[in-house]
Amino acid sequence: MAFSGVHRDRGELRIHESVEELSTNLADYIADLSEASVKERGVFAIALSGGSLIGLMGKLCEAPYNKTVDWAKWYIFWADERVVAKNHADSNYKLAKEGLLSKVPIVPSHVHSINDSLSAEEAGDEYEFDIRQLVKARMVCVSDISDCPKFDLILLGMGSDGHVASLFPNHSVLDVKNQWVSFITDSPKPPPERITFTLPVINSASIVVVVVTGESKAEAVHLAIDDLGPNCPSLPARMVQPTNGKLVWFLDKPAASKLESVQFCE
Ligand code: 6PG
Repeated sequence: MAFSGVHRDRGELRIHESVEELSTNLADYIADLSEASVKERGVFAIALSGGSLIGLMGKLCEAPYNKTVDWAKWYIFWADERVVAKNHADSNYKLAKEGLLSKVPIVPSHVHSINDSLSAEEAGDEYEFDIRQLVKARMVCVSDISDCPKFDLILLGMGSDGHVASLFPNHSVLDVKNQWVSFITDSPKPPPERITFTLPVINSASIVVVVVTGESKAEAVHLAIDDLGPNCPSLPARMVQPTNGKLVWFLDKPAASKLESVQFCE
């Protein structure tokens, strides 16, 4: 690893020499969390995102993880989803199904995706209802300090504009406080209709991992992590600040190239 350390208030930084190394360490990290969570409470509630993240999780489908991870205990959710049919090329569900879920023995009834026959608003409401039932059944924990669900792990990617999940810069969805799942119909990144976990839900997780690779994200990584004083733009990724949980950044060197005060190990 090129660098590993804890930032004063922006969580743990894991900066990798290559995408390959990041991918190996990410699989290892998720497998360890799964093991700890299954040991502690019998299940592992994990929320995925779309984009390059699923490909970067690919090593979980290979040895040893395909055999050693207790897949039957996984409950899968999405931190955000595009409101399109599940067999549509833009579907985050389809991406995860093809890249991960179909390759490991996950229990189909543990996969909680949106109802793709509804409008974005209805799909968001129904998804929140679905999660509420799982919180009642204790498959998903509840936060100690709010009524929010406490996912064991929320995995996020980040766009070069600093968006995470479907929380885009300067969008009113960033202000939603009284819902677990919200919706948008004007996403600047296509497709326009999406559902998304709200910030209170993301910030109630036990662990939030943000996975970012490539030089095109370097400026956003700098704005999301470095201390920039009062004039710092309010990037969605910077608003990810788990209240009682842990924030971990998995970066490659190009994505971390504009970070201040990081000394790479040679
Ligand atoms: C989506 C994704 C989105 C993604 C980022 C990063 O539905 O569009 O969930 O939040 O994670 O845009 O995507 P890349 O890693 O592909 O750049």
